[in-house]
Amino acid sequence: MEWIKVFAPATIGNIGPGFDVLGMAISGWGDVIQARKIDSGVLISEIRCEHELPSDADKNTAGIAALEVLKLLGENDGVELKISKGLPLGSGLGSSAASAAAAAFAVNHLYGEKLAREDLIPPATKAEEYVSGGFFVDNTAPCLLGGATLTRSKHPLEVSRIGHIEDLHIIIVTPDVVVLTREAREILPKTIPLEDFVKNMANACQISVAFARNDYDLLARSLNDVVIEPVRARLIPGYKGVKEDALKAGADGVAISGSGPTLFAITNRSSNRSTIIEDSLVRSFKKNDIQCKSLIAEMDMEGTRLID
Ligand code: HSE
Repeated sequence: MEWIKVFAPATIGNIGPGFDVLGMAISGWGDVIQARKIDSGVLISEIRCEHELPSDADKNTAGIAALEVLKLLGENDGVELKISKGLPLGSGLGSSAASAAAAAFAVNHLYGEKLAREDLIPPATKAEEYVSGGFFVDNTAPCLLGGATLTRSKHPLEVSRIGHIEDLHIIIVTPDVVVLTREAREILPKTIPLEDFVKNMANACQISVAFARNDYDLLARSLNDVVIEPVRARLIPGYKGVKEDALKAGADGVAISGSGPTLFAITNRSSNRSTIIEDSLVRSFKKNDIQCKSLIAEMDMEGTRLID
């Protein structure tokens, strides 16, 4: 049987104040899955990853997503998967979502593309739920659809693609610290002051408008999370200083990507400040004896796709 190869991009969940509802796909990093039809079941025959991952299909996000899509399609035949993790685990870049999205997309493609991309969000999210402990689509939706997305409802699923900011440069820095989404959710407050709720809601709404209007300045003014970031910052050694340094280096905003520890800073493409901000972020973490990987990215408007 013929192999296909699928790429699924990294994603930034929350985009600052939009906890669990806003997300965007970014260019550059992602997971690759090769897949082919087999007679039955889901077989994970190869995993390339810096860390150990389960190869039992029902314990692996790619495997679970593949099983879910086969079920949705009513297929008795199966699929073999080879997983190549480009995204570090527990990084806040939607690593488990990317594997799940790639596998869901691959199975649907192999079996005649009977499902729309949107239909692949629930199976991919169910797979992600297995590792994160929560059913939220702010990684799986932008990963599958590309661009930025806003989720109004999970059951029934209602997700909108909200546009593109052409000028946006996103500087990503992933410190060598693992933060598990499950744990980063457990520390969140159960109640929040009304004033903070209003600030986050206003900023999240304006971020949607910024994407819809291709308005970089509005995004920059609105990238401020007063509810979740102050609590999660303590999971990232030196967060406050690193953020201050990046702002001094010219970033127009800095926030935690998803549940962290990856941070992202934004700048306007025409400012030519991306490399200076990237250096500042990396140097700042080094001051805290933490190594990191970094990347200057743009939005990925295509989402999960076939590659050669
Ligand atoms: N929105 C979720 C969170 C996952 O912040 O816990 C983001 O990757």
